[in-house]
Parts: sequence; C-alpha cells; structure tokens
Amino acid sequence: MCGIVGYVGDEQAAPILLDGLRRLEYRGYDSAGVAVHDDGRIELVRAVGKLRNLEKALTENPLTGTVGVGHTRWATHGRPSEINAHPHIAGPIAVVHNGIIENHLELRQELEADGFGMSSDTDTEIVAHLVHRETKAGRDLLDAVRRALAQVEGTYAIAVLSTEQVDRVIVAKNASPLVIGVSREAMYCASDIPALLPYTDEMLFLEDDEIAVLEATRFSLSTLEGAPVERETQRISWSPVMAEKAGYKHFMLKEIFEQPRALEDTLRGRLDRESADVNALEIGLTDEDAKKIERVVLLACGTSHHATVAGRYWIEELTGLQAIAELASEFRGRDAVIGEGDLVIAVSQSGETIDTLMAAREAKQKGAKVLAIANVIGSAIPRMADASFYTHAGPEIGVASTKCFMAQLANLLMFSIWLGRRRGAVDDAQATEIVEGLARVPHLIEERLQSTHESIKDLMRTFADAHDVLFLGRGLSFPMALEGALKLKEISYVHAEGYAAGEMKHGPIALLDAHVPVIVLLPRDRHYDRSLSNLQEARAREAKIIAITVEGDSQAQALCDAFVEIAPTHEALTPFVSVVPLQLYAYCVADHKGTDVDQPRNLAKTVTVE
Ligand code: M6R
Repeated sequence: MCGIVGYVGDEQAAPILLDGLRRLEYRGYDSAGVAVHDDGRIELVRAVGKLRNLEKALTENPLTGTVGVGHTRWATHGRPSEINAHPHIAGPIAVVHNGIIENHLELRQELEADGFGMSSDTDTEIVAHLVHRETKAGRDLLDAVRRALAQVEGTYAIAVLSTEQVDRVIVAKNASPLVIGVSREAMYCASDIPALLPYTDEMLFLEDDEIAVLEATRFSLSTLEGAPVERETQRISWSPVMAEKAGYKHFMLKEIFEQPRALEDTLRGRLDRESADVNALEIGLTDEDAKKIERVVLLACGTSHHATVAGRYWIEELTGLQAIAELASEFRGRDAVIGEGDLVIAVSQSGETIDTLMAAREAKQKGAKVLAIANVIGSAIPRMADASFYTHAGPEIGVASTKCFMAQLANLLMFSIWLGRRRGAVDDAQATEIVEGLARVPHLIEERLQSTHESIKDLMRTFADAHDVLFLGRGLSFPMALEGALKLKEISYVHAEGYAAGEMKHGPIALLDAHVPVIVLLPRDRHYDRSLSNLQEARAREAKIIAITVEGDSQAQALCDAFVEIAPTHEALTPFVSVVPLQLYAYCVADHKGTDVDQPRNLAKTVTVE
C-alpha cells in the first residue's frame, strides 16, 4: 500500500523524507518520489522500483529545501512508471496520496474540459488539479484543499504543498491512515508510526474528514467543514530500535524471535493468576454486557482470519456461545444477518485493513457491538469500534505477519477466558490450567526457538524444491495449518494448501505422490489418533511426511521422513507452540530461494484497498 511522509522544519527535508520512506518500505511499493520547496519552486524527483533508485536519482539531482513530501506508490490506477509515481504536480500544487478516488474518471473529464491537462494515468493527479482549480479561483491553500476534497468520492490520505504558501504542508484523510508527528522544531506526517519514531514520540492520529495545517513550530486541526478540532497528542512508547533489524538478516526472522517478548507484553497485567481469570477492565465491557451476548462473530482477513478461526474454537469451548469466524471481505456485500445480541470481534494487526473496517462498520450499523483487537494504537478499526483490546507486539515490519499473529491468539484466548468466566462456563480447575499454562507459553517458545530454527534450516533442504506442499491439522491445529500454508505461499512463492486433516480424503489426497511434502500437525490432543491415521493415509500414497510432534512422541516420529518437536502444553495452548516451526519453515525455504522475504512481490503490509 502507498506510504506518505511529510516534513516542515528547518533541516534539509529530502534526507528525512527518504529515511521515512525507507521505514515505510514494508507497506509494499513499486515506485517512489519526493517533492521539496526550493526557492519558490517545487522540485520533484521520482523513480520506478526500489528506494535505492530514488536515492540514486536524488544524488544526481539533489533537492534543497526544508519543506517537502515523499511517497512510495503501490499501483492501483496506471502501471508502475515514473510518470505515475507521486508526487503529482498541477501548477503550484504537489500532492501525494494513499487510497482510491472512485469518481476520478468523471472528474478527469470535467477537469480536461476546463483546460487542465493530465500527465499521468493516476486518480491522484485529479486531486492536484482540483486543488489548483480552487487556488486559481483565489482561495488559500487550506480552503482550496477543503473544496477539492468535497468533490472527490473514495478513500484518501493526502499531503499537499503549494508554491504559493511555502511554509506549510496540508494533510487530510478519509479511510486511509495518516499520523502527524509533533516536535518542538518541526512537524512531520506519515502513513504509519515507524516512519516518525527517530524524530518524535509525540503523535496525533488524524480522524476521517479532518484536515491539518503543518507549519514548522505548530499545527492546526479542523474538520473538512471548517470546525476547529482540539485533540491531545499521544506519546508512543515504541523505540526506533524496535523497528530495526538488530542484526537479523530479515525483519521476519527478528519478529519470529521476538515472539516470546511480544506474548509477554501482550499478557502483561491481564492474566490474573490468583483468581484464574483475565483482567479486561480496559475492554470496557461489564459483566452484565458479557451475559447479554448471544453470539460472537469474528471478522478479519489473511493471517488475522486464521487467528480468528482459533478464536472461534476457544470461544465455543470456553463460553458455550455460538461463534463464527468470517472473512471480512466475504461478510460485506451479501446482506449478512447480524444485529443486537451479536458481539463482533474485528481482528487486524494494522487496524486499517479496509475490508475488516468496512465489515465491522456494517455490523455496527446493524446493531452489533464491535470489539477491536488491533496492534496499532489509534488506528481506524479501534477508533470505530465500541471497545478495544490491543495486542502489544510492538511494530511489525515484515509483510508476513508472525509476532502479531501470536499476540492476536493471546488476546482471543484471554477474551474467551474472560467471557467464559463471566458466563459461568469455565470452572476454576479448567481456568487455572489454561491461565497458568498461558503464562508459561513465552518461556516454552523461547527455549526452543534457536534449536527449532537450526533443525528446520537443515531438514528444509530436502523439501525446498517441492512445487506443492500440503499442511494438515485438526481442531485448533486446523487454523495453524492454514497459517503455515499462507506463510509459505506469501514469502517463498511455493504453492501450499492448509487443510482440515479430515478433509484430505475428500479431495486433496488425489494430489499426493512422492513429490508432495505433507506437513502434519500432531499435538497430543483429542484429535491425535485420527490425525495419525491421516498421516498414514498420506504416507501410503508415498507423500513425504514432516510432522510437528510433541517432544518424545516416538510413535509419530517413526512414521515420518522428518519431524520437529514442540513442547507439551494444555491442548488449548497448542497453537502457540505449533505455529512457530511453520513460520520458521516458510522463512527458511524463502531465504534458501533468495526471495524478498520482508517485502514479497505483489503484497502490501496494510491493505487499504478493497
Ligand atoms: O493488518 P491486518 O491484520 O488486518 O492484515 C490482514 C492481512 O492483510 C494480513 O494478515 C496478510 O494476510 C499478511 N500478509 C499475512 O502475513
């Protein structure tokens, strides 16, 4: 997804903008550019491909000036090219944009008829011309941007420069994210927090339909209609180092290794071991609210959806309530039946995924209560929700989600315990076992991470050239199989399927032969015997078997071509330990193949288009 940065201060803007863009690389992009005010002109440098191309172009054409904007573009309208890269210029105006202007064709025709010539195929250029048309009519920049935005339909976060008011950047948003960074000497803006962390920890999240004027030592905030807005900035405790690689080859590997800490931070202050309960005061739901819930609907996309499938199983088991895990993108546009009595849990690492946001919004409009589980404080989904239960995994930079998935699992299990306790569906003994076990999980993961990585690096070589891989699991291991397959697909580009082990005989078994590795999740749970039978069925078709087994499970290990051991846990906790080898397997295969692990092709970290 596109990334925006902006700077207004007294230092040279271009290096700060480039640095910010680098910190947004994880969002995915195909071209980039910066524009800086230089002596009454806006100077522009753009380049297709990676940021090193932009950096090279900037070395050849240095930009001087202390006010500017930068952009990484993930193409939606118009192919990746220098002409289509942002910033877009129209007369005195330069614009960077993240989102989609839905009525751009209609506006393009209107502007062309008015004599405004277009030089790109993008929807963004339309915004630049709309602002230009308003300034030509004598309006100041703020008013011009307001009026231009009143004409567009769609989603946007924008940052605007004008040679007519060179001391400021105007920013506004609708649906796409934008955060303002505030310091004594300068103002910043960006699509996401990590871009600003080296410069300030004082941030303000722009709300939909708000617009801000950033000047070097102050900013002002108002609605698009012109009403002033007063809102305190927030202090963000993430350190810039948390968003750097710290000696790991890739962010993804670092984030896999950070999982024990991400889990500890997420559990901290919430697990009440004394009363075998969960302290969820921050959620803001009362015991009475808990009793009134009739059904739980979990909405999410991608990896977050896999966490919600596990969440569904936990909620049903621990609360006795019906729970369903829906793909947010499928929930929309089919007139889903939902309303009062339903609790919707919208799960999203970024808190900005448009499908999840829109689906949760629809559910809220129909009368459901919405609880957000997100990692990015102040992001759009928690802001629209009735209540929030944040994960505390720290910034996740690798496009492939790992530590945030782990933290989502923790929040979903904690919420299930909390709800189950309020509804009298979990007794003391069961709650004690799970709460005590969950408190130990970070340690269980930590003590095996290094050795698991080593053994997977080794065993993976035998299977790395496979074109297809099947992941099988039952019960809580089913969503982990889905997640293992998604991880492998997205970073190593190997075709993989996650399947409920019992479904294998209904189709995928036809694919099996000696060239298809099958990764079977075999925790010692109630499904063990049946999963073992499925393993044997696959083995009988000559498939190569890699099993994820509990340590010392010689019965299963004897039936495999390779195995990875996990720690024994309470069966409700198996997802936490069994997903780690799957993440490492995907990582090792991708690293072996030399793919762009942290920024896989065609993928974006935050998906703000439908
Ligand atoms: O930010 P979200 O959790 O809402 O993102 C949802 C998906 O886009 C995300 O999980 C995606 O599937 C990742 N690439 C998974 O690694």
